[in-house]
Amino acid sequence: MIRIENISKMYKTKTGGFLALDNVSLNVEKGDIYGVIGLSGAGKSTLVRCINLLERPTEGKVFIEGQEITAMDEKDLRKIRQSLGMIFQDFNLLMQRNVLDNIKFPLEIAKTDKKTAEKRAEDLLKLVGLEEKSNSYPAQLSGGQKQRVAIARALANNPKVLLCDEATSALDPVTTLSILNLLKDINEKLGVTIIIITHEMKVVETICNKVAVIESARIVKDGLTKDLINHFEEVNQ
Ligand SMILES: Nc1ncnc2c1ncn2[C@@H]1O[C@H](COP(=O)(O)OP(=O)(O)OP(=O)(O)O)[C@@H](O)[C@H]1O
Ligand SMILES: [Mg+2]
Repeated sequence: MIRIENISKMYKTKTGGFLALDNVSLNVEKGDIYGVIGLSGAGKSTLVRCINLLERPTEGKVFIEGQEITAMDEKDLRKIRQSLGMIFQDFNLLMQRNVLDNIKFPLEIAKTDKKTAEKRAEDLLKLVGLEEKSNSYPAQLSGGQKQRVAIARALANNPKVLLCDEATSALDPVTTLSILNLLKDINEKLGVTIIIITHEMKVVETICNKVAVIESARIVKDGLTKDLINHFEEVNQ
């Protein structure tokens, strides 16, 4: 589904460069809920931004369903990006638009006709359990509700993959669990492959079947969550 081959990312800085990813490879299979865990500054956000090429790796290749996206032009890349939804820690909702219009936004960009977009947005709102908030504005919602809207919006164009960068880090434990349950539902019912960036072991244990540990720009371990649990327990001691 997603194959990352030997990518490195060097950010240009005043003093020369900063190596945020150092020869990272990763293989995410269809249906995975793949966790990427590491401390602040390890390179997690850089890695996830290299998957949809919001950030260009300095070296290496990224494949989505066998197609090398690092070799694509902007036009083909725009199409591929529609198959990659993304959600963030701070939700990134459009504050001037109500809930329904936030969800419709990516459909407008994709030039979906109005009726289809309206129906799709309403269905998604139901999926995330927020029908009654359709006309509310983001400022009137709790953090968990905002993230539900962001998830609905990320799913608008039927992505095959959902990239989640610290999507529950701003939420309390109970709300975190409800969002993780929603992501699991989306994975199971819609068959969406999910990548979850987090610094919380609990998140990985709760829903990720596989996990990679990133430390100072490198992946130091990866595999099935159940096989790596012991490693984490040692780290936490
Ligand atoms: N545009 C940039 N220019 C220079 N350095 C950058 C840039 N973006 C990130 N970095 C550096 O790259 C490293 C990795 O950053 P990244 O945001 O990927 O970390 P992270 O693991 O997501 O951290 P956090 O958990 O705090 O979000 C950090 O040391 C950061 O300072
Ligand atoms: Mg980050």
